[in-house]
Amino acid sequence: MLSSRQRRAIRLVIHFVAPYRWHAVGALLALIVTAGITLSMGQGIRLLVDKGFMTQSPHMLNQSIGLFLLLVLGLAVGTFVRFYLVSWIGERVVADIRRQVFNHLIGLHPGFYENNRSSEIQSRLTTDTTLLQSVIGSSLSLFLRNSLMVIGGVVLLFITNPKLTSIVVVALPLVLSPILIFGRRVRSLSRQSQDRIADVGSYVAEALTQIKTVQAYNHQQQDQQRFAQTVEGAFATARKRILQRAWLITLVISLVLGAVGVMLWVGGMDVIAGRITGGELAAFVFYSLVVGSAVGTLSEVIGELQQAAGAAERISELLQSKSQIVAPDSGLQVLPERVEGNVRLEDVYFSYPSRPESFAIAGLSLTINAGETLALVGPSGAGKSTLFDLLLRFYDPQQGQILLEGRPVQQLDPHDLRRCFALVSQTPALFFGTVEDNIRYGNPQATDAQVEAAARIAHAHDFILQMPQGYKTHLGDGGQGLSGGQRQRLAIARALLVDAPILLLDEATSALDAQSEHLIQEALPSLMKGRTTLVIAHRLATVQNADRIAVMDQGKLVAVGTHAQLIASNPLYARLAALQFNTADS
Ligand SMILES: Nc1ncnc2c1ncn2[C@@H]1O[C@H](COP(=O)(O)OP(=O)(O)OP(=O)(O)O)[C@@H](O)[C@H]1O
Ligand SMILES: [Mg+2]
Repeated sequence: MLSSRQRRAIRLVIHFVAPYRWHAVGALLALIVTAGITLSMGQGIRLLVDKGFMTQSPHMLNQSIGLFLLLVLGLAVGTFVRFYLVSWIGERVVADIRRQVFNHLIGLHPGFYENNRSSEIQSRLTTDTTLLQSVIGSSLSLFLRNSLMVIGGVVLLFITNPKLTSIVVVALPLVLSPILIFGRRVRSLSRQSQDRIADVGSYVAEALTQIKTVQAYNHQQQDQQRFAQTVEGAFATARKRILQRAWLITLVISLVLGAVGVMLWVGGMDVIAGRITGGELAAFVFYSLVVGSAVGTLSEVIGELQQAAGAAERISELLQSKSQIVAPDSGLQVLPERVEGNVRLEDVYFSYPSRPESFAIAGLSLTINAGETLALVGPSGAGKSTLFDLLLRFYDPQQGQILLEGRPVQQLDPHDLRRCFALVSQTPALFFGTVEDNIRYGNPQATDAQVEAAARIAHAHDFILQMPQGYKTHLGDGGQGLSGGQRQRLAIARALLVDAPILLLDEATSALDAQSEHLIQEALPSLMKGRTTLVIAHRLATVQNADRIAVMDQGKLVAVGTHAQLIASNPLYARLAALQFNTADS
């Protein structure tokens, strides 16, 4: 009866509600008690009409009203408990889901985000969890409460008057069948409509983060048009869904109230003929209204539950996506506390998952000795940055292997592996927060003195002091408010503070003026001492300091040697040197 999707959604909810089962039991008890009290009100009405008004005895009336007030008190307390517990569970579970999804996402292999746009995932994390929250925190309890009302109401209807009840029983399938038919349509439309909303969210995020490029190219109008299309697409889908739901609600109301009318007519005839008492009819109408409105609420809530099933499914999809970069199941190797920094690549072939047909690294073998400084040069797209990705194990090669300290990186825990590297990436990544936070990023325990020392070496100290709050100055998202060269210097300071045995510099000084670069270059050798350093650079100054230079082209290692050797022996290097390194100047 349930689709596998719905079963998955239910399993997810059960999984997350399980730790709070006693809250759930309490909520369920309160729910049953309040539903019971509401239903017993019908009997109260019957007694009131038949015994109170009909017998015209003030004593009986007093008793009845006393009982009524007692029930009201029970209902009030029960409702408080139910509402508090149910909403509490909703909020608590969603907090848990959000945390767990984020904890999971942040550990996934980077390749995952190439196929799944990260901004889309981000909007899922907010919209889908909010949807789940409203369902667990209210719709689910509405559903249970109204189901109880329908079942209890129908039973009491039978007890009160079997003949009239048969009308209700005949009317019920009439009401339920359109609900099921429309419900199915609403379900598929609501999934579409949520996907559209996710589209809108990711579109905005992209345009706003690139706002300067957007405006520099006067691209606003195109963006407005494209955004309008996305929004209108979302609206069109939503409109279809709303229409289906409107039909659903209309049908339910007409059918339910129509049936009530018929009942009143038949029951009224019976009262006139003296076959039933007025109290019985009053109770009966009360119950049929309870049942009718409960069915109406159910039909709405079922739509919401179906939406939430979609949301839960997408969340469990996210939670089930496995990281492809993990520690091995068996044969885990552990690096020694003090890693020397020996790196070896053996016949490595690698192509990006999004471009399986071409190798970004094609048959590369290279040994880098502990303490050595190796410069990587080569034309754009040669695979230099990709090599760093492989060393850090953001991806696994299709063939060949990479060894750190003689251990295959795939046999290591990624955490263990990465603590050996300090990376300055080609596009220095800064985060929202203070300058200090950004430098301390990889080493939260570093003292203020250590932070300053790293900043001095990276020639960042002076410009940091010129900022309004110095090291405590807040940077915008992605380090907004800094120049390109300043960002690079912060990124270098951050890498220096980590104190890892292997330093990876991917054009770390490309945005610096010659003067600052020169100063950093002067400082680097002392830092590089005792560390293995891999530098990707286009400028001669950097390359000349290296012990060896490796020339790459089209994913292959073309030549390795010193500057002088390569100038003489390798035409590609000689050409690069002549053009990019500006040999004439040096
Ligand atoms: N995420 C990716 N998915 C698919 N292909 C990629 C990806 N990143 C890089 N590539 C491709 O892999 C090849 C090597 O790229 P890589 O970034 O390693 O070059 P590079 O040597 O660092 O160049 P540059 O000097 O311009 O930084 C290029 O052809 C590039 O288009
Ligand atoms: Mg690169």
